[in-house]
Amino acid sequence: MEIKTIMVVGAGQMGSGIAQMAAKSGYSVYLNDISRELVDKGLAGISASLDRMVKKEKISKDEKAGVLDRIQSAVTLDSAAQCDLIVEAAVEKMEVKAEIFKKLDQTTPAKAILASNTSSLPITAIAAHTGRPEKVIGMHFMNPVPVMNLVEIINGLATTPEVTEAVCKTAEAMGKTPVECRDVPGFVSNRVLMVMLNEALWELYEGVATAEGIDQIMKLGMNHPMGPLALADLIGLDTVLAILQILQEGYGDPKYRPCPLLKSYVNAGWLGKKSGKGIYNYYRS
Ligand code: 3HC
Repeated sequence: MEIKTIMVVGAGQMGSGIAQMAAKSGYSVYLNDISRELVDKGLAGISASLDRMVKKEKISKDEKAGVLDRIQSAVTLDSAAQCDLIVEAAVEKMEVKAEIFKKLDQTTPAKAILASNTSSLPITAIAAHTGRPEKVIGMHFMNPVPVMNLVEIINGLATTPEVTEAVCKTAEAMGKTPVECRDVPGFVSNRVLMVMLNEALWELYEGVATAEGIDQIMKLGMNHPMGPLALADLIGLDTVLAILQILQEGYGDPKYRPCPLLKSYVNAGWLGKKSGKGIYNYYRS
């Protein structure tokens, strides 16, 4: 199972980060989204991230050009026919992922591996929308992808060891450390992380401390690189809410119930950094 060409479906912050790291590691990459504008926005984000690296002399201008040259735009899934591995990083909605995986199953060669970057949807359920559940796996990258070392590898019920091995090798080739786990709601990472973020939101809701105070306590007291409320804004409050709802439904345990403040913010369209406002303000004055 040699991986040479990769398609990333979804050119948002996660998808573009995955495409960047794959291209930086020498893979041929197709970056797909539903419109030219969305793909271009993803490419602009990659270019900005690479500029940061050039400025810090981590890569040369030529290397930056090489990375961008290895990424081709794709506004349909047709180019998946040329790919050995597809990493889906579309929105966290089962109906959207089901459609994408059905189409990928028809478009890609039988040997191709279909991976999802889902943050909490069951891999086994996604795999059931294809005729090749043994080749479906979770490849859960962390945000921001160029910086974070982990790729959580989630084996569905039918995933074969050969597929897991091929995907782990690819993650390593991308400079990441793969760590395997079983397909349970929230996997390992988000089952732990989301409880912490939600608890920080409850503290804010109850007026235990200010947002800055809660974040400072966790940064200075636990050596976390950023506080839980700033991290919730970075991940996206809509994503945090969606994952908590999946945990609540999956385990039926009230400890996962989302804080009402989180729901209000999402209803208001205050989604965090990506929308310019969340728990904190990100508008440029
Ligand atoms: N592209 C390229 N490089 C980037 C980058 C990007 N998008 N973002 C940050 N960097 C680099 C910077 O250039 C800098 O490089 P240097 O060390 O060589 O100077 C380094 O990362 C640190 O960045 P900054 O100096 O700008 O800022 P910080 O030191 O505050 O670090 C952070 C920023 C890396 C985001 C850090 O605060 C952090 O690690 N936060 C925690 C992130 C985290 O927990 N992520 C996981 C979220 S959960 C998840 O993704 C799962 C999902 O399913 C919800």
